[in-house]
Amino acid sequence: MNKNRLKHLAIIMDGNGRWAEKHGYKRTKGHERGAEVTREITVFCANHPTIETVTHYAFSTENWKRPKLEVEYLMKLLDRYLKKELKTYQEENIRFMAIGDISAFSRKLQERISLTTELTKENTRLIQILALNYGGRDEIVRAANRVIEGGGKITEESLGAALDTPYQDIDLLVRTSGEQRLSNYLLWQLSYSEFAFTPTLWPDFTTDELASIIGDFEKRKRRFGGV
Ligand code: FPP
Repeated sequence: MNKNRLKHLAIIMDGNGRWAEKHGYKRTKGHERGAEVTREITVFCANHPTIETVTHYAFSTENWKRPKLEVEYLMKLLDRYLKKELKTYQEENIRFMAIGDISAFSRKLQERISLTTELTKENTRLIQILALNYGGRDEIVRAANRVIEGGGKITEESLGAALDTPYQDIDLLVRTSGEQRLSNYLLWQLSYSEFAFTPTLWPDFTTDELASIIGDFEKRKRRFGGV
């Protein structure tokens, strides 16, 4: 039997807050540990034989509703992450890209995102996409407006091409922390994706668990509407 080939992996990194509470820490500590796990998983993906792209949900359009201090912390953490991980991107040959409406971020953070994108654009082993101020509906609406403003007609091809990520289907979505919902993530790109939900909280998620999830995915039957 032919194994499924995992090319595009999407991850909803959930459970940082619960992990922190469980250990008696502030929620921010959960995010800090979460960012380390994001790096470990990304390096694993770069060394995986079939994965070409990993797309992480790092900040949703709904996350602005969190307490101001937590939002500020997440912004600072993101800036620190991109600064620190530039070395990892270059050593591991990883290209960084962002999707979402980053115009709502501070100028400093927008510059950090642009700089990281620019400095890693020739890297070829893996594309790591961070979804930032991202919402699936918002992405589709912005894409539709782009097509209309360009004088085009809305088709699957024109809309798909106008999305933040050029039309690229996702093979497998992993969500940690036991929640089984999409939370407005990559609505267009997940149309034919396989889903895997694990109760593990994101700060406890390991490359071994991901390898086991990928092993299961490779054995699934994908029919894409056919027989
Ligand atoms: C969900 O945990 C996680 C987020 C809202 C943000 C994701 C951020 C990280 C993994 C850390 C930062 C990553 C980078 C790349 C800088 P939650 O707070 O919703 O957890 P809870 O549901 O247990 O409260």
